[in-house]
Amino acid sequence: MKRTKIKALLNAESAMPEIVVKGWVRTKRDSKGFSFLELNDGSCLKNIQTVIDHTPEIEAELAKIGTGASVAIEGELVESPGKGQKWEVRGKSLKLLGEADPETFPLQKKRHSDEFLRGIAHLRPRTNKFGAMFRIRSELAQAIHKFFAEKDFFYVHTPVLTGSDCEGAGEMFRVTCLEHGCKSSIEEDFFGKPAHLTVSGQLEAEMFSLALGDVYTFGPTFRAENSNTPRHVAEFWMIEPEMAFADLADDMDLGEEMIKYLVRHILDNCADDVELFAKWVDKSLMPTLETILENEFIRLPYTEAINILKKTKKKFEYPVEWGMDLQTEHERFLCEEKFKQPLYVYDYPKTIKPFYMRMNDDNETVAAMDCLVPRIGEIIGGSQREERLDVLHARMKEMDLSEEEYWWYLDSRRFGSVPHAGFGLGFERLLMLVTGVGNIRDAIPFPRTPNHLEF
Ligand code: 4AD
Ligand code: MG
Repeated sequence: MKRTKIKALLNAESAMPEIVVKGWVRTKRDSKGFSFLELNDGSCLKNIQTVIDHTPEIEAELAKIGTGASVAIEGELVESPGKGQKWEVRGKSLKLLGEADPETFPLQKKRHSDEFLRGIAHLRPRTNKFGAMFRIRSELAQAIHKFFAEKDFFYVHTPVLTGSDCEGAGEMFRVTCLEHGCKSSIEEDFFGKPAHLTVSGQLEAEMFSLALGDVYTFGPTFRAENSNTPRHVAEFWMIEPEMAFADLADDMDLGEEMIKYLVRHILDNCADDVELFAKWVDKSLMPTLETILENEFIRLPYTEAINILKKTKKKFEYPVEWGMDLQTEHERFLCEEKFKQPLYVYDYPKTIKPFYMRMNDDNETVAAMDCLVPRIGEIIGGSQREERLDVLHARMKEMDLSEEEYWWYLDSRRFGSVPHAGFGLGFERLLMLVTGVGNIRDAIPFPRTPNHLEF
């Protein structure tokens, strides 16, 4: 017989005479003549209670079963006479699938620290908290595709292997087939030229936007920045929409609409899992999410943001001056203390932004925008792109970028160039936002950070 998932059993409309339930034992309690097993199969946060009468065979099986073991139970779904659950399973047969030695099984019934659980990232999805996190992650990924599908955006698969540094920050991982210590030159390497893991699919997404109109890419990106912060990982997922015939205001509209849609979707579709985070992880989670839904995001030019930061009495580690990049402490001050809600900062100095951003008329700032949210800081980075060939040429020269390397990118401005804009939304930072977890390592299944490549 096929198993029925616990989620379906718990949501059943009526009793079911014959079912098979399979899962991992969360607790076992023995009584006189019968035992209770609380089972979880990952399909939802809640366990199902199973009750099994003792027979000699079942007792022999039960003796080998403890927390963490996997079992299959055949029986029926009946209304539970006990408090706290509507349904329970009356087991007729019990089969141990996989033992878990209680002496060495690392997940005990107590609460474990996030740090401890990071050390056993292969087992942490079996805990309530991380089960909830990764169900939300899955739901959120699917909701992203739904959001774009409803808006008639096309999904483009941009390459992971690349020869160009989109952000120009030089934070790329090299990819090579050359043996260590071998004297071969780059020409003998696989691609005959330096290859890297992509930091962003933007440049390629732009090419597709200038053909299909509205597109997005959603995939893994890699950055070799040596920043050991609770908001950075070396491998993260990014959602990058790109819109043709669009400007910076359209770009900010899309980001705001998208964040609101996704927050709404998670509240509507992952209520139990979100509640766990609101109760145990971040007491301010619900008010934070409601603020996001109920208010229009503030839009603040960079120069005004600098003025606000300069005027406040608050002392910052990094002193504030026009021309600097905002640090997390500045970003968090703006959205947590000053405005107490998400906001966009836009029109940044050209000197701190990549080559592709559109030059403003002042010749000092570019049409860039960052979306800042409470507890995290930057969650979106985007811009209107420089569509004017001559201006782009001049900018690349100024920044010492090789026009030969970017010939194909420049071509898009040579032939039928149009105003266009896009952004990148960090998927793990979005998960931090909707769950309230304070460390990005807890929002990705197997985090990659400096000196951590386990699992
Ligand atoms: O601001 P970033 O660097 O923008 C770009 O890469 C653009 N090419 C995107 C575009 O316009 N298509 O990165 C975008 C977002 C950030 O706002 C942040 O949420 C996330 O990606 N991000 C990271 N998330 C986790 N770990 C890291 N090391 C991250 N670096 C950026
Ligand atoms: Mg950025």
